[in-house]
Amino acid sequence: MKAVLLVGGKGTRLRPLTYRIPKPLIPLMGKPLMMHVIDSLPEEVDETIVPVGYMREVMESYLEENPPRRKITIVEEQQPMGTGGAVKNVEDYIDGPFLVINGDSISSLDIGAFIGFHRSKKAFASISLWGVDDPTPFGIVDLDANQRIERFQEKPSREEAFSRLANAGVYALEYEALDHIGEGFVSMEREVFPNILDRGMYGLRFEGYWVDCGTRESLLSAFRTLMRDGVMDDSRLAPTIIESGAQVDGATIGRNSYISSGVLVGQGTSIENSVVYRDAIIGDECTISNSIVDVGMAVSDRSKIIDMIASNASPPSD
Ligand code: GDD
Ligand code: MG
Repeated sequence: MKAVLLVGGKGTRLRPLTYRIPKPLIPLMGKPLMMHVIDSLPEEVDETIVPVGYMREVMESYLEENPPRRKITIVEEQQPMGTGGAVKNVEDYIDGPFLVINGDSISSLDIGAFIGFHRSKKAFASISLWGVDDPTPFGIVDLDANQRIERFQEKPSREEAFSRLANAGVYALEYEALDHIGEGFVSMEREVFPNILDRGMYGLRFEGYWVDCGTRESLLSAFRTLMRDGVMDDSRLAPTIIESGAQVDGATIGRNSYISSGVLVGQGTSIENSVVYRDAIIGDECTISNSIVDVGMAVSDRSKIIDMIASNASPPSD
């Protein structure tokens, strides 16, 4: 079974971080966001197809330097085709029922069980669902007693919001679903889903976690979620991770922080709710809070970095 990973966005809300690397490669607990998604695929997914426009060369060289355990095929997308158009654009790589995954979030969805759900419902399309408080930034569905989707609406207004069950961005689709995606720029959510409802679309709600990684706040929250799940250091203020090879003696590393290897933190500096990427050098008596510090940044003594993405990266030339 093939999976199409949708990571075509430019990650504008994570600039300037995404001037240096494309969003799918942003490290989350030492592993690119994209690899968290790919590693969560069950064995039966034997190839992940990634249509890429923005910074394709950077993705290709990452994969050359870090050969993945599983087959990943990068396909050029000359201009953004939309979530549906991007899938249509790689249809030659698809040979049967397939998955489509929005690559901008991490979740605890058991994708193997989700594929099982799709099969057991004999669905034409299945969608993973997550309960939200505010449905307006999402696609929403309502389900009948048999988990069949009766309505799908993308980005409802407050008045239109008929449910709080949001599309969590993992789909299982029958091969024939490709026939329902037209040429050119096509939105899966606005154009394709409403049109295939009558073929049998089903929704599987899951529990656990689902965190978008599109903004500074949400990326920090993704770190927090994974740190709570994983190892903690012996600090009393866990969850906090200090990778080996980071030097933090004389600094206070508070809760919800991730300090990467090669980082130097000066005396009297305090850091909380923040991520410091590899090789950053932070001076003495700084305060860093709710922030992300980019790879190799030099932060001078007594700086205050609060609610920021601190990076020297500038826009790529293309
Ligand atoms: N290759 C490619 N080409 N990928 C694209 C394109 C494109 O033209 N446009 C968007 N993508 C990728 C994005 O990078 C992202 O990973 C995914 O497709 C979804 O697009 P977003 O732009 O992030 O959509 P959204 O967050 O507003 O809404 C979508 O996700 C929500 C869940 O996070 C929709 O699927 C909603 O229905 C859903 O609730
Ligand atoms: Mg998104």
